[in-house]
Amino acid sequence: MKVIVTKSYDETCTVIAEMIRDLIARKPDAKLGLATGGTPVPIYQKLIQMNREGQIDFSQVHTVNLDEYCGIPGTHEQSYRYFMDSNLFDHINIPKANTFVANGMGDFEANAQELEQKVREGGPADFQLLGIGNNGHIAFNEASDHLISVAHVENLTESTINANARFFEKKEDVPTRAITMGMGDILAAKTVVLAATGLAKVPAIKGLIMDDVITTQNPSTLLKLHENAVVVIDKELADAVGYQG
Ligand code: PGA
Repeated sequence: MKVIVTKSYDETCTVIAEMIRDLIARKPDAKLGLATGGTPVPIYQKLIQMNREGQIDFSQVHTVNLDEYCGIPGTHEQSYRYFMDSNLFDHINIPKANTFVANGMGDFEANAQELEQKVREGGPADFQLLGIGNNGHIAFNEASDHLISVAHVENLTESTINANARFFEKKEDVPTRAITMGMGDILAAKTVVLAATGLAKVPAIKGLIMDDVITTQNPSTLLKLHENAVVVIDKELADAVGYQG
């Protein structure tokens, strides 16, 4: 696992957007695994800008998103389909048919199976973008005594519900379940890039980069098993966890 320390979160986002730009230049029909949450928003803004400037052509790119809440439709402002459309897809030249976000309505188990099929279709993702939960979760694979390898329905922990309540009018509105890629799905990607910023992430990032322990209580630590995993953090977060390179 490689750790990159940047001067600022803005630089983190530039570094990651440039990785994606360079990948698509090499492989115009690249398959990207994408993430939602606060962390990727400025990365997506940079990709939009690069697309406007003609630096990236998304016309042959395919994307699969990590997860989706159960019980809210793609038209709902807090759904991850809505998030991806409004923060990225509506502003770049990607055909919507090439983008997949699991359906959060109807038969959740069947929707999880459909997500698993999309993860496998056309082979592993060339690039998987990840954020990290305050509790070390990756996608919605929550800290637990066991983890699930394939796409599945996950019960969200109190910590995740509290962290995501900021996006909803009230905490009670936060869905309590989600459809998520499993850990095996994520580790199958050829390159996995995790971005983190902010002091709320200190315990999770400490477990990820400061020792050699792998534990299901911090799902991100499984990235230590991946040959091409990259963690990009800014100096503020690196200093807070005591990382010195
Ligand atoms: P955040 O969420 O980017 O909103 O901090 C990250 C995550 O929960 O994976």
